[in-house]
Amino acid sequence: MNILILGNGGREHTFCWKLSQSTQQPNLFIAPGNAGTAQLGTNIDINPTDLEAIATAASSHAIDLILVGPEAPLVAGVHDHIANHPTLSHVPVIGPKEEAAQLEGSKAYAKAFMERHNIPTAPYKQFDAQSLNDGLAYLETIPAPYVLKADGLAAGKGVLIIHELEEAKTALIDMLANKKFGAASEQVVIEGFLDGIELSCFVLTDGESHVTFPFAKDYKRIGEGDTGLNTGGMGAVSPVPFNDAVFKQKIQDRIITPTMEGLKKDQLDFVGFVFIGLIRVGDDPFVIEYNVRMGDPETQVVLPRIQNDMAALLLATGEKRLHEVALQISDQAAATVVSVAGGYPETYEKGKAISGLTGDGLIFQAGTTDVDGQIVTNGGRVLASTGFGTDVQEALTAAYSNLSNISFEGMYFRKDLGFDL
Ligand code: AMP
Ligand code: GLY
Repeated sequence: MNILILGNGGREHTFCWKLSQSTQQPNLFIAPGNAGTAQLGTNIDINPTDLEAIATAASSHAIDLILVGPEAPLVAGVHDHIANHPTLSHVPVIGPKEEAAQLEGSKAYAKAFMERHNIPTAPYKQFDAQSLNDGLAYLETIPAPYVLKADGLAAGKGVLIIHELEEAKTALIDMLANKKFGAASEQVVIEGFLDGIELSCFVLTDGESHVTFPFAKDYKRIGEGDTGLNTGGMGAVSPVPFNDAVFKQKIQDRIITPTMEGLKKDQLDFVGFVFIGLIRVGDDPFVIEYNVRMGDPETQVVLPRIQNDMAALLLATGEKRLHEVALQISDQAAATVVSVAGGYPETYEKGKAISGLTGDGLIFQAGTTDVDGQIVTNGGRVLASTGFGTDVQEALTAAYSNLSNISFEGMYFRKDLGFDL
């Protein structure tokens, strides 16, 4: 079995690690991959949003299944491209088609979906350049803080949370009139601020049935105590201690079930991961956002807790046989700590030699590349160390301990993960 994985992060390395344990012994191809995925399969140097190049690679390597890691190829229509291809239409793609990928690709589309299917979320209104004055007037009618979201993909930077009214108005003008985020901010969603603690929910669906993966919580801010700029994610834990049985049931009844039914009612034929970003406000769950892929670094704690054969699970999804599968989840807790390049998420350098990668710990590589046999940094988030334990605190201790032998110039990681649990 030949599997093509699109992406180059810690999430994709984790999928390779899990798939390489499959009894089906799949051959893995990763486009473009990193130095970690190269140890488990064959990296193919193509851009994951170059749909023609992906189709060519899928043909030449006789690919049986395509797993899409990041959102950009899905929003660009990679699933549709393969499904409509003269010789590849039989190849299952794990990841939704272009229309359903709008759940992540457009905040306004996602809010309309939630409104249509009565899924709890913050109240909102949407504005464009023509309705800018209505937007400014609307800001005056709602309490601070103001949540402004660029409608389209903006590399995780498109959400602004602003405390002062005048500042919020200036930001709205910047986004709509001055196109601060380019085409992504031609539309802006203004929504109510939800005060609570966040968690991530992952559902794998074949369009008919679904399985719910273990929940996780990630740490998005660069600084300790959840301060400073947002990042792609500085670490994660699973399970989530405050996600007790009663709360989980509310998530199932109020959010997962109506989301799955909504996808069917809207005839979106969603095959892949629905990543529901949730927030607990008091005792109630609300949806902050949908993503149409697994989370990174949540994958680094979620996949190790799944005991099923991952190749069989993905194949069952692609062949619409997910109802045959019972998910088996380990009782062990997992935690991952992400090490980043100095300066990230602002400017940082690449090409720093990484030492200590040969230890026993579970290290998932992200921004790495191999230069003449030496693994060097090649991105902002460089690697993630995953540890296990009977609870999240013990798992964090193990993850930090695994990291102690690894170093590169400018290496930074948060030392306080789990502080809020
Ligand atoms: P998003 O890209 O929609 O996930 O937003 C990025 C981050 O902004 C989220 O992870 C939250 O921390 C925060 N956020 C987004 N929407 C809201 C909201 N309505 N209330 C409070 N915080 C929010
Ligand atoms: N860790 C959040 C994300 O993958 O979007």
